Amino acid sequence: MVPADSFREDVIAGLSLPQKALSPKYFYDAQGSRLFEAICRLKEYYPTRSELALTHLHLREIASFARKGSTLIEYGSGESAKSRLLIQALRPSAYIPVDISADALRGAAAMLRRRFAWLDIRAVHGDFSRPLKIPVAQAKGRRVIYFPGSTIGNLTPEEAHAFLRTTRGQVGPRGAMLVGVDLKKDANVLHAAYNDAKGVTAAFNLNLLARINRELRGDFRLRRFRHYAFYNAALGRVEMHLVSLERQTVNVGDHRFSFEAGESIHTENSYKYSIEGFRALARSAGFKGGKVWLDRRGMFSLHGLEAA
Ligand code: SAH
Ligand code: AVI
Repeated sequence: MVPADSFREDVIAGLSLPQKALSPKYFYDAQGSRLFEAICRLKEYYPTRSELALTHLHLREIASFARKGSTLIEYGSGESAKSRLLIQALRPSAYIPVDISADALRGAAAMLRRRFAWLDIRAVHGDFSRPLKIPVAQAKGRRVIYFPGSTIGNLTPEEAHAFLRTTRGQVGPRGAMLVGVDLKKDANVLHAAYNDAKGVTAAFNLNLLARINRELRGDFRLRRFRHYAFYNAALGRVEMHLVSLERQTVNVGDHRFSFEAGESIHTENSYKYSIEGFRALARSAGFKGGKVWLDRRGMFSLHGLEAA
């Protein structure tokens, strides 16, 4: 579960920092999950299409790497769109989707139950950045953690390292991981993907303020903030911010925050990796970087990692 209190505490702490910051995990309330699904369908947002294409292209190899009958645990499963393909090919002994968004999880579980009546689904509503109890059935079966979508890119490399160490422990010595990782590329392509013409990404970013208003008695005036996303080449990441258009104060419950004109709230990082860069990170966390699959245009990668 994601207690309302941790949302409140994290928002108060994040808006009190010299560089105001909010965790991207809070984007995904019901409205945020719908907006993210709309982003996935945008022509500018290549990651979803590229990862789906590479999964179709290499499905047999990916399935033979993961092995039939494994327990498939998916972190940040969202609408489980890519997982459908894997489930069909793998016929896992159980599928355990984990997501912070109760709405996305409910919708995905219902869709999968209709489609795969034989499948043992054990949905977990929770935050993968905190200790979680995963309801694996047989202690002895092979466990495979699926982490698609480049959600790992929303963690700093230090957080990603710690996360991979934890998942290495969860899969055990015979387990494996499949991690979707967005690749470094032309800054213009990245810019377009996070600044789409229809303004869906801007709405996704601004929804975080609307969510604070709804859930934490905030009084953010959304028209006084602007979506800002750019590629920070030195740090290898797209950064998303919400920039205050004027000097203003905002209340969240009993707390008051001041903004200068031009001051931002940093809401997301989306790290882009080279293949070797991600392999090195996985190795340092206790995985053998075995396999990597790409789409035909070389936009996105899926890494097959075996426990070392
Ligand atoms: N796997 C899907 C969705 C990616 S979007 C895809 O590839 O398209 C990121 C997903 O991770 C969202 O569904 C979001 O709700 C979930 N998420 C983000 N941070 C999380 C956290 N800390 N714990 C659990 N789920 C999280
Ligand atoms: C979920 N995550 C990998 C997406 C990304 O690209 O970093 C979230 C997103 N942010 C803006 N557009 C999509």
